[in-house]
Amino acid sequence: MSAPFARISELPAHAGATVTVRGWVTHLRSSGKVAFVVMRDGTGLLQAVLVKNALSPEAWTRFGELTQEACVAVTGQVKVDARAPGGHELGVSDLAIIGPSPLDYPIQPKEHGVDYLLDHRTFWLRTPRQVAIARIRHEVEQGIHDFFYEREFVRVDTPILTAAIGERSGLFSTEYFEEGNAYLAQTGQLYGEAAAAALGKIYTFGPTFRAEKSKTRRHLTEFWMIEPEVAFNDSAANMVLQEEFVSYLVQRCVERRQAELKELERDISKLEKVVPPFPRLDYTDAVALVRSKGSDAKWGDDLGAEDEALIVADYDKPVFVFNYPKAAKAFYMKENPDDPRTVLCDDLLAPEGSGEIIGGSQREDDHDKLLHRIREEQLPEDAYGWYLALRKYGTFPHAGFGLGLERTVAWICGTPHIRECIAFPRMMHRLRP
Ligand code: 4AD
Ligand code: MG
Repeated sequence: MSAPFARISELPAHAGATVTVRGWVTHLRSSGKVAFVVMRDGTGLLQAVLVKNALSPEAWTRFGELTQEACVAVTGQVKVDARAPGGHELGVSDLAIIGPSPLDYPIQPKEHGVDYLLDHRTFWLRTPRQVAIARIRHEVEQGIHDFFYEREFVRVDTPILTAAIGERSGLFSTEYFEEGNAYLAQTGQLYGEAAAAALGKIYTFGPTFRAEKSKTRRHLTEFWMIEPEVAFNDSAANMVLQEEFVSYLVQRCVERRQAELKELERDISKLEKVVPPFPRLDYTDAVALVRSKGSDAKWGDDLGAEDEALIVADYDKPVFVFNYPKAAKAFYMKENPDDPRTVLCDDLLAPEGSGEIIGGSQREDDHDKLLHRIREEQLPEDAYGWYLALRKYGTFPHAGFGLGLERTVAWICGTPHIRECIAFPRMMHRLRP
């Protein structure tokens, strides 16, 4: 008689019954007559208890062949035990090896350097901390879809191969048949703006690519960005949407990912404070603030990571810095009618030194002003023809933003480097595995 399969997280529903659990060995222990296999299956940890006298000699022998990371199927009775991990134990009646694992498994229970771990990312992913981060990322992704679905935004998938370009940072290019170069998208925004005139409220959710030679803990060459675009929102409404969105994602993790946050030793009380409204700091005031703290930032500069850290140090919530100088920001941002040296934009800086998680703006909706900016920046005018035409036929005030997924997950998880927040990070010096 074969027992039904159960995942470790499902064991409470099987108390007293006999089931088969499949997974990978994490620890082994034996006292000669009694042996313990601790295993994981992606849903939790389970201790399986083997008593020599109660097992067939073959099954007991197979226990002796087990090694760390061997894949096993363990059959036994589910016993409630408050002291066991997950509150359950398995009293084993049979044991099968699905896939043996030689003793030279690359990740051993000792300290490995980060480069070594990244080289063995395929196996590093199996460790408890990485599993916790992956589950929080998944929660954030699902939260993003739910947030926008509930507010009647339509998801629009924008192209990854593009002829036009978006942001100022480096481009990856590839040959594209007779059409010349194609560029991997740095942003979906410009297409999102076109779609907002069709659908009203849209968001994109996709990979974006930047050939930036930055080796900081916040830069990937391939990262995922979420870009809502809303017809008739101005910059103020754009910021309200951002604070509601970010608070929703953080509180959702606090509510649903307690176990993972605990695994990461995250101070949840800090996350609980992330509720609207967020402080708003005019760029000019932000420059004065960082200068008063010793920075040599000048009016006109974009703010660097060190200045951002000085700003957020005063707050326990994310902070908006709004209306940057025109020259420090992208060509498509709308000129501020009250101070044409600046544009109607914002950066959202996460607390605890996590840096900019959102860049957003109201878009320039005046055809001639936009054309002037494209020329001023010496951008290829032909490539932007379709984008300019949106300002010719029924131009409309609109605003949107881009949230960096890995930076957001890194902040929620309290991980200092965003490379752990994506399964297979791509960085300047890393293309494998
Ligand atoms: O500020 P950015 O460059 O804004 C845009 O791309 C706009 N088109 C967004 C919009 O208005 N629709 O990028 C947005 C966010 C940043 O705040 C940051 O969180 C993330 O994307 N980001 C990166 N994340 C990881 N690695 C990189 N190299 C990143 N560059 C930007
Ligand atoms: Mg930015």
